[in-house]
Amino acid sequence: MHTLKIAFICASLRKDSINRKLENSIIRLFEEKGAKTQIINLDKFQMPIFHGDLKTPGNVKILTTLLETFDGIVITTPEYNGCLPPLLKNMIDWTSTESTDYIKNAIWGIASATPGPMSGIMCMRQLSFILSRLGGNVLSQQVGCGNASSSLDCDGNLIAQPALSFAKKMCEMMISRINQKKMI
Ligand SMILES: Cc1cc2nc3c(=O)[nH]c(=O)nc-3n(C[C@H](O)[C@H](O)[C@H](O)COP(=O)(O)O)c2cc1C
Repeated sequence: MHTLKIAFICASLRKDSINRKLENSIIRLFEEKGAKTQIINLDKFQMPIFHGDLKTPGNVKILTTLLETFDGIVITTPEYNGCLPPLLKNMIDWTSTESTDYIKNAIWGIASATPGPMSGIMCMRQLSFILSRLGGNVLSQQVGCGNASSSLDCDGNLIAQPALSFAKKMCEMMISRINQKKMI
């Protein structure tokens, strides 16, 4: 059977990022189900803030082409002032000028960790809107993880509910959606 390829993008480059920790815990759930996972580190694809007079940087094409090779993509993102962070919006804006095929072809999962109880719900809603607007197939099950510092155990496993159930459900939904697509 074909091994599913899932990319993981964390929209925080901070060394102690709680979203990076959440991402790693979700990766484990996918690997337990036999998926092949790959972290896409946005720090390696630096891009200036988009404006229309700039020549497209080489990293945009490289990243867009790379993302086209995945069956599913999971974004784990902080919420900044009720919105998605500029790092993520800038990456989507730049790559969308190159091609939106990678957005249309992948199944998308969204997760967000916050230190407070709200779990990035405003940011996840906006990200879902943007990806859907660009033709993305976005899973309805998102992984909101509030009070993130107490949500993982000392080995980095997600233990808090309901975040753990959300993550397992998103993982199952993504695998089943990709398999359905492959059968068509
Ligand atoms: C500019 C800025 C705006 C923020 N706005 C929000 C917000 O709207 N909602 C929220 O829950 N946390 C907000 N935070 C707190 C972040 O959730 C917190 O810094 C978190 O640790 C960032 O994620 P990271 O640890 O993955 O970098 C904000 C932080 C910054 C720096």
